[in-house]
Amino acid sequence: MKKFFAALVIAAAPALALGAAVAEYPLDKVDIDLSDKAAMQDGARTFANYCMGCHSTQYQRYERVADDLGIPHELMLENVVFSGANIGDHMKIGMKPADAKAWFGAAPPDLTLVARVRGNDWLYTYLRTFYDDPTRPLGANNKVFPNVGMPNVLVALQGKQVIGCKQVQVVEDGKKLFDPLSGTPITHEACDQLAIEPKTGKLSEEEFDEKIKNLVTFLAYSANPVKLQSQRIGTYVLLYLAFFFVFAYLLKREYWKDVH
Ligand code: HEC
Repeated sequence: MKKFFAALVIAAAPALALGAAVAEYPLDKVDIDLSDKAAMQDGARTFANYCMGCHSTQYQRYERVADDLGIPHELMLENVVFSGANIGDHMKIGMKPADAKAWFGAAPPDLTLVARVRGNDWLYTYLRTFYDDPTRPLGANNKVFPNVGMPNVLVALQGKQVIGCKQVQVVEDGKKLFDPLSGTPITHEACDQLAIEPKTGKLSEEEFDEKIKNLVTFLAYSANPVKLQSQRIGTYVLLYLAFFFVFAYLLKREYWKDVH
């Protein structure tokens, strides 16, 4: 019987190992605000500077984005439209899919709807988890998209990220632990962790996270521009109802004056 169990364990081991190997990377949560125009403007600028060399958002027009985000057309043309396109054009790019496939092994997909397809948390985590990997053709790999074809385009902002060991704070029952006497965080060394080499990027870790949050906010808007509009209309409806209520109340008082 013992032998049978041993055999069973051995037989199951590869499956277990495989299960562990493909375990999904835990996604970081991001709380975006689709009414934060400053965040979306910053995201649009980052998108134009760092992404539109390879990715289009071709179901979206520059003009619509400018109007929705409150960007004057001249500023939009100066800071976001680099391709000599007109304000009324769709946000297309010049790169041909066949060339891209030869260069990166995969064509960069259009990103108009990517926030709907992948989700905000996925995007937020993906864009922050590129790391150095000399075994890859372009020297970079990604935690949520293993063996991705996209190069680490934000490395100048984020800095060089590597996999190594670092001190992480101990968490018990969802609470971070602190030393009761000194008040300092209780940490332990964890390996297989992403760590940014200090002073290799233009932004601090917090600033970079904020940049990416803004970029994700822009992509979330892009995937659902009507949401922004319905929020705006919703505000007007509520204001109207509040305003109307006052008159309805006054009218009711007027009508019932003689009844009492
Ligand atoms: C040098 C070209 C290049 C640049 C610049 C670039 N990407 Fe990519 N990106 C790619 C390629 C190629 C892929 C396809 C990867 C694959 O399928 O392996 C990709 C894939 C993606 C994906 C995954 C899409 C999916 O659902 O599969 C997202 C999201 C993405 N890029 C976002 C961005 C953002 C945001 C930026 C700007 C910060 C950016 N990319 C800049 C080349 C680029």
